Amino acid sequence: MTAALLDISPDAIAASARRVMARCDELARETSMEGGLERVYLSPEHARVNRLVAEWMREIGMTTRQDAAGNQVGRLGSDPRGMTTGDEPALLLGSHLDTVPDAGRFDGMLGVLMALEVVRLLRVRTDEQWRSVLGFALEIIAFWDEEGTRFGTALLGSSAVGGVWRDEWWGLTDADGTTLRQAFLEFGLDPGRIGEAARRPDELVGYLEAHIEQGPELDRRGESLAVVSSIASARRFLLTVEGEARHAGGTPYDMRRDALLGASEGALAVERLCRAEHHIIGTVGRFEAFPGGVNVVPGEVQFSLDLRGEFDGERDRVWHTLSGELDEIMGRRGLRWRAREIHSAAAVSCAPLLQDVIREGIGATTSTAQDPATIFSRAGHDGMAMGGITDIGMLFLRNPDGISHHPAESVSTGDVAHGIRALAEAVLHLSRSRSGGGGGGGGGGGGGGGGGG
Ligand code: HGY
Ligand code: MN
Ligand code: MN
Repeated sequence: MTAALLDISPDAIAASARRVMARCDELARETSMEGGLERVYLSPEHARVNRLVAEWMREIGMTTRQDAAGNQVGRLGSDPRGMTTGDEPALLLGSHLDTVPDAGRFDGMLGVLMALEVVRLLRVRTDEQWRSVLGFALEIIAFWDEEGTRFGTALLGSSAVGGVWRDEWWGLTDADGTTLRQAFLEFGLDPGRIGEAARRPDELVGYLEAHIEQGPELDRRGESLAVVSSIASARRFLLTVEGEARHAGGTPYDMRRDALLGASEGALAVERLCRAEHHIIGTVGRFEAFPGGVNVVPGEVQFSLDLRGEFDGERDRVWHTLSGELDEIMGRRGLRWRAREIHSAAAVSCAPLLQDVIREGIGATTSTAQDPATIFSRAGHDGMAMGGITDIGMLFLRNPDGISHHPAESVSTGDVAHGIRALAEAVLHLSRSRSGGGGGGGGGGGGGGGGGG
């Protein structure tokens, strides 16, 4: 077990965990979906949740701002006069607040709320002000549009912060035909100022995110927490298969060019190829036949493909092989097909130093895991867009049964308590490693009175 730097009582940690769970419930009520949870970028729910989270940030002494991409940011500096990014560099803690359709209440929100508790535990009170005494400022960033639910392209909020925004995105449209540009303006943001969301590498110490695993590995191991080694690369496509709409009764099979059957063979080829390839995961999540009459042979099908891999090259090779198979299938059936790529994010490795401090944080928290699990994330995360400007690190929490992107998504209060402690310990170990191994700073870990409670 690693020596603990955080001397906060188990009761204070348990109170933090209960607050996180209660706030996940509170945030889940901000939804556009009747009877379920859906919260998308630049929506009224986005605005309401940013106001709520900003309030929680100010409650613990942070100064707050909404950045030019609509992300919510809080900052606790050693001299928290304000948000001037010219101050000492900041460690970013956070995750995202948007969701997929009919979502679980922990994917994203858990990381933002755990970050609030870590800052609460590590802040130190000096001359009537709450400060960071860690040798770096603490910032919490609540990203938006990590999922890409509204406009199809993911990581919009973190791409703006990571300096990888693409102007071609302004023309993206949602299901109602509203462009991203229009949605920005309606939300009260200025597309012309998107560049102001970008952070400079010299402003940042790193980006740490706690997240549910969204897979079954920790549950199968019977462990609470894991270090993340890397985040899978992802490419998303919208594929169109064109045949010919015809009468369902009068058209003999040898005259049909049935787009649905061709697309279905294509979807099965995705599963077959990805099952055969270690670490490549392909999913057809959306599948729509046109014109959609029950008595009409489908003349066109549009379907999505989400293709991921631990390594970009392997993933791209599977895409190339699949493209050849689609050529064969559609040719044999007299169909045509095309693909439009709507998202691409390279695999990102988590920084060794941040992996180490998270490993030490877990080691200081759970005696069971002498050597905490290290997992490659098959789920995408905002760190993919941040990796170009700063070190990234991720802490995974056990996600019972691994079910996620589903209302049954869950996490236990006990594991959240472990996660809060481990993340706070990781921050203190990072502070210690940057100050040459001296005092921990913050949170009663040496360097000032505990900020807990
Ligand atoms: O799609 C993903 O992997 C993430 O949950 N956005
Ligand atoms: Mn997700
Ligand atoms: Mn997520």
